[in-house]
Amino acid sequence: MLPNVVVVGTQWGDEGKGKVVDVLSTRADAVVRFQGGNNAGHTLVVDGEKIVLHLLPSGILRPACLCVLGNGVVIDPGVLWKEIDALEARGVPVDAGRLLVSARAHVILPIHKQLDLLREDARGDAKIGTTGRGIGPTYGDKVARAGVRVVDLLDRASLTERIRAAWSSVGRAVADGGGDLPDQDAVIEEYLVYGDRLRPMVGDAAGVLYRIRAGGGSVLFEGAQGTFLDVDHGTYPYVTSSNTVAGAACTGAGVGPTAIDEVVGIVKAYTTRVGSGPFPTEVGGETGEWLRAAGAEYGATTGRPRRCGWFDAPLVRQAVRLNGVTRLALTKLDVLSGLAEVPVCVRYGGADVDGWPLSLEQARPEYASLPGWGVDLGSCRSFEDLPEACRAYVAWIEEAVGAPVDLVSVGPGREQTLVRGGLFAG
Ligand code: GDP
Ligand code: IMO
Ligand code: MG
Repeated sequence: MLPNVVVVGTQWGDEGKGKVVDVLSTRADAVVRFQGGNNAGHTLVVDGEKIVLHLLPSGILRPACLCVLGNGVVIDPGVLWKEIDALEARGVPVDAGRLLVSARAHVILPIHKQLDLLREDARGDAKIGTTGRGIGPTYGDKVARAGVRVVDLLDRASLTERIRAAWSSVGRAVADGGGDLPDQDAVIEEYLVYGDRLRPMVGDAAGVLYRIRAGGGSVLFEGAQGTFLDVDHGTYPYVTSSNTVAGAACTGAGVGPTAIDEVVGIVKAYTTRVGSGPFPTEVGGETGEWLRAAGAEYGATTGRPRRCGWFDAPLVRQAVRLNGVTRLALTKLDVLSGLAEVPVCVRYGGADVDGWPLSLEQARPEYASLPGWGVDLGSCRSFEDLPEACRAYVAWIEEAVGAPVDLVSVGPGREQTLVRGGLFAG
């Protein structure tokens, strides 16, 4: 049986969390998103067909798996309905039996999206490069105790009161910034319609998860973004507005720390980042372009080209520690095929080998070169099929970051997944 597992990104997002959660979800009773919103883009490739999920958990293609949006998620109800409709059009039913939405999750309003964009504009050259989905302002209102929750969508009086309050705070900021405020009453009506559609799916998610676990079932907690986009532990202020580390699964789903058995860190065989902020091992020029093309590194949510760079061992080692990672899943190893030598960052100059700099702006990466491999890995089906140099690269990563690599991914498809053991071998 699958233990209760938290899956998190160990870099700046887009490590391949969706693919790994999809693979693991055959053995899970529930998959829960616990933070973030539709800033995420999690890609699944099934029989050559690509599906990008922004809000729905990546267990949605497994009929026996309950998908849960936990209290820690921020939900744009219009986007959620589009995603549900698109899946249903492909023959994947998404009804109350498949999807549970926490009544306590916060709701993104049109004015949150406007404020997100206006704040980005106002930052000029210092812009964060947000996804523009209203994530920051919505979490801001949650913490300021001024937010709208899913439960409010079910009741005209509370929704009206909450939206009027939002218009007098966020709305004022939007108007001050020169934004065109949408009509309040029209938004109330629109969101009540979302509420009516959502009603059968809304519930006490924490209670349902408790009962699944009490009955011996297993729960997968699907992280979004990555460790260094965490609002506390990331490259602040160039971060997202939620905690993305494994500990957030507890607060964002409503389970205690003792409910978590394992933490799987998803790690790309190199590094990417979308948006602004420090990135010590970034490579520009032709090499950077080559990596971007080889890895098809364009954002699953915004389509923006991702910044690319080499594997950064101090970064991932820090992620292993911050998340309590027990096992790693290494993705996109196939992308590095063809390089004569693979540069890897072994330490940051000036920092003691074990230390972590106070700011990544100051990190000066020092590199070593590992032998490359010429062959294409896409058709490998077991770890033993991998060329010797490739296995040595994996072994080097395990040693450098202090966690075992139990799964290796050599392509986007489900079948391009090499299981080495541990919890993946169920
Ligand atoms: P997530 O946000 O962590 O779920 O990752 P994304 O879906 O945003 O980005 C990962 C991209 O890499 C997607 O296009 C995946 O289909 C693709 N992918 C995942 N694993 C592999 C792999 O092992 N090799 C290759 N070439 N592509 C992969
Ligand atoms: P997944 O789950 C990569 C980045 C944005 C921006 C910063 C803040 O697919 O890995 P936000 O809209 O959250 O306020 O933007 O965070 N970002 C991501 N980068 N993958 C993601 O999600 C991301 N979600 C947000 O590009 O730099
Ligand atoms: Mg993504």
